[in-house]
Amino acid sequence: MKNGKFCWGIIGCGKIAHQFAISLSVLPQAELLGVASKSGERAESFARKYNAGHWFDSYRDLARMPELDAVYVATTHNFHYENSMLCIDHGKGVLCEKPLTVTAREAERLISHAISRKVFLMEAFWTRFLPSTKKLLELLDRKVIGEVKMVKADFGYNFPFDAISRVYDPGLAGGALLDVGVYPINLAQQIFRSDPVDIQSSFIMSPTHIDEQSSYIFRYEGSRMAVLYAAVNVETRHDAWIYGTEGIIHMPRFYCASKLHVSRSSGEKETLELPFVSTGYSYEAEEVMRCMGSGKIESDIMPHRESLGILKIMDKMRQSWGLIYPADLIERLP
Ligand SMILES: NC(=O)c1ccc[n+]([C@@H]2O[C@H](COP(=O)([O-])OP(=O)(O)OC[C@H]3O[C@@H](n4cnc5c(N)ncnc54)[C@H](OP(=O)(O)O)[C@@H]3O)[C@@H](O)[C@H]2O)c1
Repeated sequence: MKNGKFCWGIIGCGKIAHQFAISLSVLPQAELLGVASKSGERAESFARKYNAGHWFDSYRDLARMPELDAVYVATTHNFHYENSMLCIDHGKGVLCEKPLTVTAREAERLISHAISRKVFLMEAFWTRFLPSTKKLLELLDRKVIGEVKMVKADFGYNFPFDAISRVYDPGLAGGALLDVGVYPINLAQQIFRSDPVDIQSSFIMSPTHIDEQSSYIFRYEGSRMAVLYAAVNVETRHDAWIYGTEGIIHMPRFYCASKLHVSRSSGEKETLELPFVSTGYSYEAEEVMRCMGSGKIESDIMPHRESLGILKIMDKMRQSWGLIYPADLIERLP
């Protein structure tokens, strides 16, 4: 803390880090204290743009800053484990981009390290904290559409093929599943609040051997299903449809939704408009500050077990496709 403000650091000054910094700037109780990039130049221009007082070409030097409260880890998936470990080693709270790690085994180790050091750790699943998601869950709890029986959701975008981009490079844990498939999976898990009892999936490999498209069908106890798909080579609608015994909720652009269309079997129809502040990342940052302010080491909204559960599902599907990342082969030291 510095002058009563919660001090943030950022590791990795790429695309999403800019979006996060914009959202942080709308929170009066937060200060972006410092940023780190492998490129000192990139760190400096990022810091100047968002009024951060310190910049480093070493992640370790950032993590060592005494006033720093928490670090937002915004590197590519393959670095999440080591960057988050570094921050935990230095006693800094961690908000790590999705997916928390590449494999469930890495997540288990990271989580147990955070618990043993009593340090806050949360996957930056920003959609969980949006007012639209909160409202959706409230409507479902109130049984506004009866019992939910099916969730359908997709997240595909068209990223031109580039073998060394983070999207297509297996060395950076590229692929649709880990990059965007994780969104519909997260939504289904959040709605059904349990793990699937059966998982079916299919995929199309890119020339670099990552899934450029993949589809998932999960069956949950209680006669419930999720039908989900993701892509990095074609734009899809990014819609979620939640089907209940007494109605349907349509969530356009569900990962950043500001509208919910509710249609009930009785014929009633309603569109709810929900706030979406700045670039949408302030809500997750507020959760980190709230949790750390009350001495918690995990969030009830994105608890460790949820991140782990999602990674176990993704591990299972990748295993069945023969999609192996370097992290699958590394026996990490605890
Ligand atoms: N929450 C969301 O809405 C959202 C949206 C997009 C992405 N993401 C997540 O955010 C993370 C970063 O995505 P991004 O699109 O911001 O990525 P990016 O701009 O391609 O890269 C982010 C940072 O990762 C490091 N990096 C990138 N490529 C590298 C390479 N080949 N070798 C070594 N380091 C490399 C660099 O860190 P340095 O600056 O230190 O060099 C870079 O600044 C991903 O895990 C992704 O899943 C989240």
